[in-house]
Amino acid sequence: MKIPLSAPDISAAEIEAVVEVLRGSRLSLGPKLEEFERAIAIYTGSPHAVGVSSGTAGLHLCMLAFGIRPGDEVIVPSFTFVAVANAIRYVGASPVFVDIDPITLNLDPKRAEEAVTNKTRAIVAVHTFGYPADMDGLLTLAERHGLLLIEDACEAIGAEFRGQKVGSLADAGVFAFYPNKQITTGEGGMIVTRDSGVAKKIRALRNQGRYETDDWFEHSEVGFNYRLSEMHCALGCAQMKRIAGILAAREAVAHTYQQLLGTCAEVELPPVSVPQGRISWFVYVVRLHERFTEAQRDKIFKHLASAEIGCGRYFAPIHLQPGYAAWRNSYFLPVTESVSKRTLALPFFNQLARSDVERVCAVLIESIDAL
Ligand SMILES: Cc1ncc(COP(=O)(O)O)c(C=O)c1O
Repeated sequence: MKIPLSAPDISAAEIEAVVEVLRGSRLSLGPKLEEFERAIAIYTGSPHAVGVSSGTAGLHLCMLAFGIRPGDEVIVPSFTFVAVANAIRYVGASPVFVDIDPITLNLDPKRAEEAVTNKTRAIVAVHTFGYPADMDGLLTLAERHGLLLIEDACEAIGAEFRGQKVGSLADAGVFAFYPNKQITTGEGGMIVTRDSGVAKKIRALRNQGRYETDDWFEHSEVGFNYRLSEMHCALGCAQMKRIAGILAAREAVAHTYQQLLGTCAEVELPPVSVPQGRISWFVYVVRLHERFTEAQRDKIFKHLASAEIGCGRYFAPIHLQPGYAAWRNSYFLPVTESVSKRTLALPFFNQLARSDVERVCAVLIESIDAL
């Protein structure tokens, strides 16, 4: 692709930081892990942060640490990445899919309340595309029904709700650092929580069930190898040093798109601000007008691809995935289904040049005109 959908932004200092670790003797469970965890804890205002090998691993460990079990139900959006529901299934519990708000594309607390049963144990609030979820509504709901609230902030590091960083508002929050994320470690994740007992358990579970007082061949629980290496953490620490600049660069790219597509009546643009919070731009996703069909949207994808412009569906609903066939017929989620047929994620990354944004917008408009 001449203009990819996403591209990592790795500075010379970041490469040097990783090489520096490789020159030393500590490649796992060392000072860089502690430094990265401290950086995320301070940034998010959370007492505890635990580094793990991916966002998915982070969600899985949250389910285990909070004791989600077979027979439990966990409320989640379907309009999100499949890992959110998979983590619930890893522990034998059932995801219960709920529709989203048509503007923010986040869980609708009213719909979530309707889905509560006597089996419901938790809600996973995903901060979709870096837009803060309605935490007032979801925290009230969780409190009213005695439910756990876990924030999936994998797409949203730096986003805020009422001045507080997302991830730090509920029982636990999970971040992810895949290369398309705001900051990357290649692969990686982080769990933040106020609960010292949960943090301790997650630290043990990520490291083969070893607690701090256990020796290397003592395993108090059945754990996992979900550790994050020192090389990953060195990259994460270096990226965190310039996170403010990274978020500002992404916001500027979003504003350029907004300016160039503002007069195109066929597409609905993502909101550039939200009333109670701050967006941390993860992707730039436009929606085709409702009169377009999914097939027409897919034609536009082909047109963009033939012009060597990367694009994505963001998201195909989870309850319609083949791996979720058992769920498919139990749900009709009108907002999720309507939105997901019309979304187009356009190239979006820190260093995307204005000339490339201009080219993407020109080809997009041309492909809509050609329908
Ligand atoms: C909302 C959401 N949750 C979880 C994940 C999983 O993160 P990872 O790919 O690091 O496992 C992602 C990744 O894209 C995501 O977007």
